[in-house]
Amino acid sequence: MNYKIALIRGDGIGPEVVGEAVKVMDAVGQKFGHTFEYVDVLMGGCAIDAVGCSYPEGTAEKCRACDAVLLGAVGGPKWGHSTEAEKRPETALLSIRKDLGLYANLRPAALRPALADACPLKKETAEKGIDLMMVRELTGGIYFGKKNRCQTEDRGEEASDLLAYSELEIERIGRRAFELARLRRKKVSSVDKANVLESSRLWRQVMHRLKEEYPDVDYEDVLVDNAAMQLVRDPGQFDVVVTENMFGDILSDEASMITGSIGLLPSASIGDSAPGLYEPIHGSAPDIAGQDKANPIATILSVAMMFRYSFRLPREAEAIEKAVDAVLAEGWRTADIAKEGETAAGTRKMGALIRERI
Ligand code: IPM
Ligand code: MG
Repeated sequence: MNYKIALIRGDGIGPEVVGEAVKVMDAVGQKFGHTFEYVDVLMGGCAIDAVGCSYPEGTAEKCRACDAVLLGAVGGPKWGHSTEAEKRPETALLSIRKDLGLYANLRPAALRPALADACPLKKETAEKGIDLMMVRELTGGIYFGKKNRCQTEDRGEEASDLLAYSELEIERIGRRAFELARLRRKKVSSVDKANVLESSRLWRQVMHRLKEEYPDVDYEDVLVDNAAMQLVRDPGQFDVVVTENMFGDILSDEASMITGSIGLLPSASIGDSAPGLYEPIHGSAPDIAGQDKANPIATILSVAMMFRYSFRLPREAEAIEKAVDAVLAEGWRTADIAKEGETAAGTRKMGALIRERI
């Protein structure tokens, strides 16, 4: 098969890690008989520099003409938090999610066997293993609700962000979670704040209706504050965790931290029709950009997710995951995961090692 892939290399370390991921993709193509055609798409801070806005006209169309999108990272202190939306790199990220209808964000947090000692939790906790999938709603809630600012008479300025969810939005993300759980350990933990928020009460009502359709899957409701605590107390209890946009933003950072390195974690953002968008969880790390220091593994594992979820090629996905595990098992480390005294492999070296094992 021939696949067309949009590359949003982006800012900071983005171009370096995407560069390595592309070479890994080509190695997989050679081994399994696929070819890839790449289309560069300009977005983020680099687009502000080049054309004056972070999300140039036609970005979504260019991506829609491809089978999948691979994104490195966008943003950095250079572009700050401009008051003009089109001059903020984050605006591009939110716009592409919305425009491509990528309502389901899958963020697996797994402790890789070779790195069990990188887990910052108690040894007994780490030994139980961590292998959870955070399913975050990505195109609704407070991120996209009506925003307002007004001047009050006696309390200065006032600002508000509306947190709204419809049954349709909750049901489609809920289904994704149950379907994924069926392919894993068959447990769904739905995170909400139903003791306070009306949007969460609707969330829970829809989830309860859905769970009747999936009697083979264990289901529980977890309040978000408790979920934050359970993630550090006993993360092994979780399989699929499904939640709304902002809770998912916060909890997925927490989940990534307990696995030892954010430099290892991939993500997939998918909707009902192609193309899905795949990106590492980490940011653009401008402090180490261009120095061959970044860990390319999260982006390489994002390509594995692309094979699995967009192209339905699980063998190819596993080949990448196994190659990563093999390289780590041999003791190779990038700077972010190397212990004191260990010599670290650079971005290019790590990419080459993984390629060799494919
Ligand atoms: C993420 C990021 C984004 C988000 C920011 C950069 C807009 O934190 O992908 O988790 O909040 O969704
Ligand atoms: Mg985040």
